Amino acid sequence: TGRYRLISGNWKMNLNHLEAIQLVQKLYFGLRDVDYSFSEISIHPPATSIRPLQLLIESDKMRFSLGAQNCFYEPSGAYTGEISASMLSKLNVKYVIVGHSERRRIFGETDEVVAAKVQSVFSEAMTPILCVGETAQERQDGLTDEVITRQVRGAMAELTGELASKIVVAYEPVWAIGTGAVATSDDAASGAQLIRQEINTLFGQGVSNSVRIQYGGSVTPVSAPELLATEGVDGLLVGGASLDAETFARIIRG
Ligand code: G3H
Repeated sequence: TGRYRLISGNWKMNLNHLEAIQLVQKLYFGLRDVDYSFSEISIHPPATSIRPLQLLIESDKMRFSLGAQNCFYEPSGAYTGEISASMLSKLNVKYVIVGHSERRRIFGETDEVVAAKVQSVFSEAMTPILCVGETAQERQDGLTDEVITRQVRGAMAELTGELASKIVVAYEPVWAIGTGAVATSDDAASGAQLIRQEINTLFGQGVSNSVRIQYGGSVTPVSAPELLATEGVDGLLVGGASLDAETFARIIRG
């Protein structure tokens, strides 16, 4: 497909900066004899660990890309507790997760907020990993297509085609996140297809063919190989299984 595989570890609100350093060192040594040049690996620690991990990754020339889990859409100002895209880009962050279902549900992020965050990440020359996916209830009510389409359109409609082609979209069915209920390869394929179809409608085939789509939700070393081999799936967004170096290394090794 020409789309370079991206495997991302989203640590969520876990590990202090000392534990973060240990985990990345272990991961690095765990992969030293492995050829994983066919994949890019991004690591998304809590904000407190970004600077320490930047120093570690750069000083030891580790082949990991640095990621963040969120950012605010304003560049600076009176927004107590928030972190801007420009602050992240100064730390050589390459990927920023935007619109994760936990942020939509717990922190009330709307499609408008998610769209503004996508723009702010691009404005700092970083790449958003846009998360979309239906809840169990929405799936049961037959709304999966509608929800995915709305979330993709809501976050991407205002982008230029050039920026749109650079986005990474993570299909994360909410019922599969942290539940152990991993989606089947068919579910992942149809989610990815819906996303690509909507991007095709918005921007045309050239753009939809270049967008990378990840699957996320209860990925383990057991389910990873089949998901990575799934038509239209270009990578994984891994939560819980990225918190253990050996487990995450097994996922990367495939
Ligand atoms: O961002 C990661 C996803 O929410 C998946 O989390 O692998 O713990 O289910 P999980």
